[in-house]
Amino acid sequence: RRHVLDVEGWSRDEIYMLLEQARHMEDLLSRPIKKVPALRGKLAVNLFFENSTRTRVSFELAEKMLSADVVNWSSSGSSTAKGETLRDTAWTLEAMGADVVVIRHGAVGAASYLASKLKRAVVMNAGDGAHAHPTQCLLDLYTAWKHLGDLEGKRVAIVGDVEHSRVARSDIIGFRTLGCQVTLSGPSTLMPFQVDHLGVQYERDVRRATEGADVIYLLRIQRERQQDGLFPSVDEYHRFWGATEELVREVNPKALVMHPGPINRGVEIESALADGENSVILEQVRSGVAVRMALLYLCAGGVA
Ligand code: CP
Repeated sequence: RRHVLDVEGWSRDEIYMLLEQARHMEDLLSRPIKKVPALRGKLAVNLFFENSTRTRVSFELAEKMLSADVVNWSSSGSSTAKGETLRDTAWTLEAMGADVVVIRHGAVGAASYLASKLKRAVVMNAGDGAHAHPTQCLLDLYTAWKHLGDLEGKRVAIVGDVEHSRVARSDIIGFRTLGCQVTLSGPSTLMPFQVDHLGVQYERDVRRATEGADVIYLLRIQRERQQDGLFPSVDEYHRFWGATEELVREVNPKALVMHPGPINRGVEIESALADGENSVILEQVRSGVAVRMALLYLCAGGVA
């Protein structure tokens, strides 16, 4: 597999192979000297057209741990403002020697488009519009797998703004590929039009959706992507779908509580739950470095 554009099409075996590789990388990260020379002499360019903290920083860390040279590019302050196209920007960076291009872009398909235009460089999708966020999905699967073991038959409830969420789309595919039963919950106004086609159930009531769930995956309410205002309001959302310690105690006191971040405290999750013992939110962040190291190693490693 050359590029990482989507988790659609990955087999169960491919995903578990990646998770095993990530576990080796996590072992490396626990050593006093963490760096390995797998990407020595290679140039990684991180191309971010949208804001990011976790994905951008963890890709940069992963690249540095593998000894790549790293350039961080953001659209603000670049020649994009002068009208340069995505294709010309990418060709320019490839002409300067980029071996890996990590891209986050607001347009669906931006990463695939780049992969079709670049001659040599490996492309990693760090999120394209509301379409896909494959590396987030893989770090979520890694985190759940570390806690729950084989994910076959496990129950996953994804709660919140599914309509605008590239994480939800990728996670639905990833968890289902590993044999999980996935239920969505949230206001119908924040659900995709055809939930049935995703192979998941929809349960409006959050208690019924999360009853007995092994994983309760909360999504950020993406106010910036909602052109017509939020319906229901933030207060209503919190009242009916906001996750609390009380909810988790009621539905499964052992449930893993996950969230891709950034979190809206007091909206989709109360602080006590985000910071409590069921929460693996910061562990997801840590897993992101190991998983991205594994992807970079498998797709771009080798002799420079
Ligand atoms: N989960 C995630 O993609 O976070 P960032 O937007 O901070 O990268």
